[in-house]
Amino acid sequence: MTMSPHVSLIIPTFNERENVPVLLAQIGRALSSWRGRVEVIVVDDDSPDGTWQAAEALRPRYPWLRVVRRTSGVKGLSPAVVEGWRAAAGEVLVVMDADLQHPPEVLPRLLEACEPPDVDIVVASRYRPEGAVGKWVFWRRWLSRGASSLAQAVLPQAAHDVTDPMSGFFALRRRVVEGLALQPRGYKILLEVLGRGRYRTVREVAYTFGRRQAGQSKLTSRVMVDYLRQLASFLWEPAGFGRFMRYCLVGGSGVVVNMGVLWWLKGSGALGTLRAGTVAIELSILNNFLWNELWTFRDRSHARPGVRDRLVRLVQFHLVCGIGAVWQLGILWGLAIQWQWHYLLANLMAIVVVTLWNYGLNTTWTWTRGSSTPARSVCRPLVSAGTQ
Ligand code: GDD
Ligand code: MN
Repeated sequence: MTMSPHVSLIIPTFNERENVPVLLAQIGRALSSWRGRVEVIVVDDDSPDGTWQAAEALRPRYPWLRVVRRTSGVKGLSPAVVEGWRAAAGEVLVVMDADLQHPPEVLPRLLEACEPPDVDIVVASRYRPEGAVGKWVFWRRWLSRGASSLAQAVLPQAAHDVTDPMSGFFALRRRVVEGLALQPRGYKILLEVLGRGRYRTVREVAYTFGRRQAGQSKLTSRVMVDYLRQLASFLWEPAGFGRFMRYCLVGGSGVVVNMGVLWWLKGSGALGTLRAGTVAIELSILNNFLWNELWTFRDRSHARPGVRDRLVRLVQFHLVCGIGAVWQLGILWGLAIQWQWHYLLANLMAIVVVTLWNYGLNTTWTWTRGSSTPARSVCRPLVSAGTQ
């Protein structure tokens, strides 16, 4: 039996005066049997309807309640959440909406899923088979689905485990976001975490998206533009498509090294063609290894920086590249000789296939996803928010 972690529940609010008392009452009930410590932090953007006052008024009744009234800094849902994290004392940080669309009765399941210390993130998902979006008009359903698919294309690593990357209802361990430079913009704070956070194990629990009780949704077309901009910013992030782009660039640099060395050794008459070619291949493999270690997979090699680990990766990389070379020759032989393709076209094809093959093996084997920092750290500062 593990100890139940200390939980901080962050609730961003803007004009939710009527919902807050109902929500807090339900949260109190839902968490009454939670064995660990709990605090609930309402982070209000100085709402004109006085949501923060309504929350403050309830503090005598709920000793676990804290209220943050934001009067400066960038307004918005995500920046408010990040500020809540910074104020939080808990080891597990939960985010949920104030309008009761995220039913508090899901909380015990969410927290239970988060109890094993190795779990980094738990997402409450509307898209698991047992979950649902409730009564949504078709275009809202369609839009949300489309937006999720787009996210999954840009962040394949996260998409592997998460059916609802846009969820605003989730829990994470403090270590996932500690010290990160997040760019909290727009609505999709979970996406930001999946794109830039340090995590390994992600779980999901299913739930049914409720109906907003009072007030209005703040989701506007502005929010959607922000969303697209956020996705674009991930194109270069290692968690997303960016890793593959880096890998290809490194591969390109390897070709340059290979050709250069060959030209230099052979051209100067120092070595014959085959010997010069062998040295050129080895140097280009070393070149690629170095850049992949320091750049493409930097996040992962940082997690295992020992000399021994690096040497093991160097050997693995050689093996992958060696097998890749055999593949390349095989494909070249098949296409150019058996199928009578033009040899240059056949080689290009072989390069494409082998690059994918090498990349696949190197991301899953040579530079495996290391575990996130196992140490339980409860020190500040939590997040250095890129204010912009
Ligand atoms: N502090 C603060 N500042 N809170 C805000 C702001 C803001 O500028 N804008 C919205 N909120 C609060 C709302 O008061 C509510 O508690 C929560 O953030 C969600 O806002 P809604 O306006 O109700 O969002 P929604 O229901 O359209 O969107 C929800 O579902 C999406 C999935 O479809 C959110 O959970 C999104 O994060 C989620 O992606
Ligand atoms: Mn809502």
